[in-house]
Amino acid sequence: MLKPTLFALTSIAALATADMAVAKENEAEISRGAYLATVMDCGGCHVPRGADGAPIEGAGLSGGSIGFEIPGLGIFWPANLTPDDTGLKGWTKKQIVDAVRTGVRPDGRMLSPAMPWPAYAALTDEDAETLATFLQAMPAARTTAFPPAKDGEDAQGPFFRVTLPQ
Ligand code: HEC
Repeated sequence: MLKPTLFALTSIAALATADMAVAKENEAEISRGAYLATVMDCGGCHVPRGADGAPIEGAGLSGGSIGFEIPGLGIFWPANLTPDDTGLKGWTKKQIVDAVRTGVRPDGRMLSPAMPWPAYAALTDEDAETLATFLQAMPAARTTAFPPAKDGEDAQGPFFRVTLPQ
């Protein structure tokens, strides 16, 4: 009688240790992903800003308030990268990796070069997946960013424009 009980207890302990090891590994991957997002400055564009231009605390990477005009293409606001339905909810890790490295969204649209994916194309598989793991682990937040405006369409919010001196 004693033996099976001991066996059961030992296997529960073994399972708990294995779970803790997986949780630790996940935690380590998420914090390395956060580090990559910081040094690659995702927040420089994807964090919303208040009227004073300062990043809104606690808003995370829920979408930039200042768009980028790309002449001939339109105006593009940095999208919500959190797992909300106004963000990357429903995207697989591979779809996130592809968007970041090749600029192709799951619906086939090419991201405008306002998103510096050509520079991110050099990410290793491991780093790209680690970055995606971090994005998927962020708390979901609704976006205040605008959808892209086509060339010639009125802007719905503030944006950067490059002009030449007249
Ligand atoms: C210089 C500004 C800038 C930086 C830095 C930047 N992004 Fe972006 N990103 C954008 C813009 C602008 C868009 C929207 C482009 C479009 O709609 O064509 C975008 C779109 C995206 C998309 C597509 C989302 C969607 O719903 O279409 C993903 C994914 C993404 N960025 C991830 C990242 C990650 C991860 C980082 C950091 C490693 C990052 N971006 C850094 C500007 C930036």
